Amino acid sequence: MAGQGRSMVVLTGSGISAESGLATFRGSGGLWEGHRVEDVATPQAWIRAPEIVHRFYNERRRQLMAANVVPNPAHEALARLQSTWQGRFTLVTQNVDDLHERAGSHGVLHMHGELLKVRCTSCGEVIPWQRDHGPESVCESCGRKGDLRPHIVWFGEMPLYMEAIEGALLDADLFVAIGTSGQVYPAAGFVELARRGGAHTVELNLEPSEVAFAFDETFYGPATETVPAFVDRLLGS
Ligand code: OAD
Repeated sequence: MAGQGRSMVVLTGSGISAESGLATFRGSGGLWEGHRVEDVATPQAWIRAPEIVHRFYNERRRQLMAANVVPNPAHEALARLQSTWQGRFTLVTQNVDDLHERAGSHGVLHMHGELLKVRCTSCGEVIPWQRDHGPESVCESCGRKGDLRPHIVWFGEMPLYMEAIEGALLDADLFVAIGTSGQVYPAAGFVELARRGGAHTVELNLEPSEVAFAFDETFYGPATETVPAFVDRLLGS
């Protein structure tokens, strides 16, 4: 396995935040069990019924900001890894929460956007946002009312930072995917891209993902256990 001084990419999904009290998307109790994707996470939903979309993301933001939702040992282990790693380190997340940042990670590439930001569809400004938003919300930059949308990548939209991510994957000696089901592309295809660039690939998840077969090594269990153990092994090696 690649050691210190090499180039590394970590991809995280909602499984890493599950033990912090945030629901994953698929499976029993997942967010997509209680909501239809088409009603809350598509550009069509935003045009058809923006109030439902506002409500869905307002609820999720309130959950994220609840006092009991805090980073867990898996987030903390990745922050420790980043601060210690002597090579290039890129943390890509599909998560819209800020638990990596709260744990001390920096420069995180939020490819599916961020819950604590809104974007003005009129002037394009991305604005930090911690309260509810709705049709009455006003853009702090251009002053227009009703044009603020969640800074979230919906189904049918292009994920963010793709050029930087693809460059890092092709350059990687080590690629690690954590807590993601491998059901949503392009992230599910990152393992193939990393392999093409010659990386050693590792999956850490509760159970085999849809793309588990593509990894060189797999470790299954709760992220709060597998991730700190993996980081210890990596830094000790
Ligand atoms: P999923 O809900 O599809 O998958 C979560 C994965 O985490 C599953 O494979 C679980 O087995 C695993 N898991 C659950 N608890 C875990 C734990 N404690 N430790 C380790 N693993 C655990 O969520 P994502 O793969 O993140 O996109 O979903 C990808 C994208 O689909 C999301 O970013 C979102 C969603 O639709 C958008 O909203 C654009």
